[in-house]
Amino acid sequence: MCGIVGYIGEKEVSQILLEGLKRLEYRGYDSAGIAVLNKSGIEVRRCPGKISSLTSLVECNHVSGTLGIGHTRWATHGRPSEENAHPHKYEGVAVVHNGIIENYLTLKSELKARGHHFSSETDTEILSHLIAENLQAGLKPLEALRKALAKVEGSYALAVLIESHPDILLAARNQSPLILGLGNGEMFVASDAPAILPYTRQVIFLEDGDLVQMTRSQIKIETQSGASPSRPIHTISWDPTQAEKGGYKHFMLKEIFEQPRAVGDTLRGRISAERGEIFLEGLDDRRETLRAIKRVFLVACGTSYHAGLVGRFYFERFCRLPSEVELASEFRHRDPVIGPETLMILISQSGETADTILALKEGKAKGCATLAICNVLGSSITRQADYTFYTHAGPEIGVASTKAFSTQIVALYLVALAFARDRSLLPPAEINAKLQELLRIPHLMKNCLDLDSQIQAIAQKYFGFRNFLYLGRGINYPLALEGALKLKEISYIHAEGYPAGEMKHGPIALIDREMPVLTLVTHGEGRDKIRGNIEEARARGGRIIALVNEGDQEVAGRAEETITVPRTLEELQPLLNIIPLQLLAYHIAVIRGTDVDQPRNLAKSVTVE
Ligand code: AGP
Repeated sequence: MCGIVGYIGEKEVSQILLEGLKRLEYRGYDSAGIAVLNKSGIEVRRCPGKISSLTSLVECNHVSGTLGIGHTRWATHGRPSEENAHPHKYEGVAVVHNGIIENYLTLKSELKARGHHFSSETDTEILSHLIAENLQAGLKPLEALRKALAKVEGSYALAVLIESHPDILLAARNQSPLILGLGNGEMFVASDAPAILPYTRQVIFLEDGDLVQMTRSQIKIETQSGASPSRPIHTISWDPTQAEKGGYKHFMLKEIFEQPRAVGDTLRGRISAERGEIFLEGLDDRRETLRAIKRVFLVACGTSYHAGLVGRFYFERFCRLPSEVELASEFRHRDPVIGPETLMILISQSGETADTILALKEGKAKGCATLAICNVLGSSITRQADYTFYTHAGPEIGVASTKAFSTQIVALYLVALAFARDRSLLPPAEINAKLQELLRIPHLMKNCLDLDSQIQAIAQKYFGFRNFLYLGRGINYPLALEGALKLKEISYIHAEGYPAGEMKHGPIALIDREMPVLTLVTHGEGRDKIRGNIEEARARGGRIIALVNEGDQEVAGRAEETITVPRTLEELQPLLNIIPLQLLAYHIAVIRGTDVDQPRNLAKSVTVE
């Protein structure tokens, strides 16, 4: 996903842009650039590769000014190259863009027919031509932008410089995130808060269709129809250092170790264990409506999908609600049989995943009630869903999702318990006992984090293997999927998560001395049967790594490596079991020397279909 930063003020803008883009690196990119407007006009510096290359370019060929825009590009149309890098400049108009212009080929051919020539393969470049054309026709900047965007179909977050207007910065958003930062005599625009947090905490989250004209002291927001909507100013509580690594080698390791705090923050203010009470802002006052729900549909992608698979246990076991879990990208192609009696739960760390947003739209069109479980304040999904439950994990920068996963599980657990309470399906005493145990989880997670050095030693023994198999049953099956995803996405080792009962239906053919088999054998319904799976794998030379509860000696002697985790309620055990799996993937990736926080080909939030 691309990153955008813009500034208008009194300070030298180049350094602000470069530092802002560096804080957006986690979004994934393959080229970068800045444009600065000064007395000699708009000067552009851009190149393929990392921000460090762009910084060297700017140092060699300095550009001065107090108004500018910057961009990190994750290629969607046109290979990573200098000419395809943003900003794109034409006739005194420079543009940076995040999103996809679906009809750019049509618009490009119309512009060519009017004599325009293009220097890139990108969809973005047509925007500078359309805006320039409108300015040459005598329109004012905001009108020129509005008219250009009226022709555009697709998603965009934009920042625009206009040479003939050196005191304004334009911006616009549709389906791609964009925020405004309010300073003293200076204004900012950015894709995400970390880019501007060192300068201001006062932000405005733009809505789809918003057009913005900023000066050093004023902000004007209009819609396509010319209305002037009111957009509240939010105060971002994140400390800028929170979005830094805080002494850890990688954001991912920091975020793995932040999980006890993240779970604690997500619980804070939402439960009273003494009274067995659950407070869910935004949901509590809709109990009657939600009581009419007859089924649950959990929809998400990737790690968030795996959290949904855990959540299904809760809604079926505690609420006796038929529940389905579907990948967002598949959900939309099956014309699902859902309606007002369905609660659709969209799970998304970023709140900007295109597939999940589109699934949300489909659910709303079919009349479903929609609940977003999300980690980013003001993100698209939270603004389109009927209800939102914010996980308070803090910024998750590492591309591999970790603390978001555990806080999503906590969120699903609380919502399911609240539903069970409202349907009188769980006695208060039982709810109380569950909440008491839930409050112990942050402490038990810290015990799991103490396994770090043991996991590091295991990683040293297994980092060279080319394949891994993760097996689990029942509530541990989603954990097997998540453990495998973590390993494959950051270490590039092929890893598969499988329901252990499926081994005999095919995967057992894979087992030999070259196949590590990580088996989740903590207490619960599937534990005894999975012990049989361990014997089947051992008999074929499989290298067993077993994850068991403390005190479980039965399996220890049957595995090459045994990892022991504390025991909690079966339904809460995933919150502990996931930590060794995250640490194993992390340490194997570090040994293999991959880019742990920005693995190849991946972006933190996939805002394109
Ligand atoms: C997980 O480690 C991956 N980064 C990816 O699968 C991610 O979970 C998925 O893209 C969904 O993102 P979201 O939670 O922001 O919607």
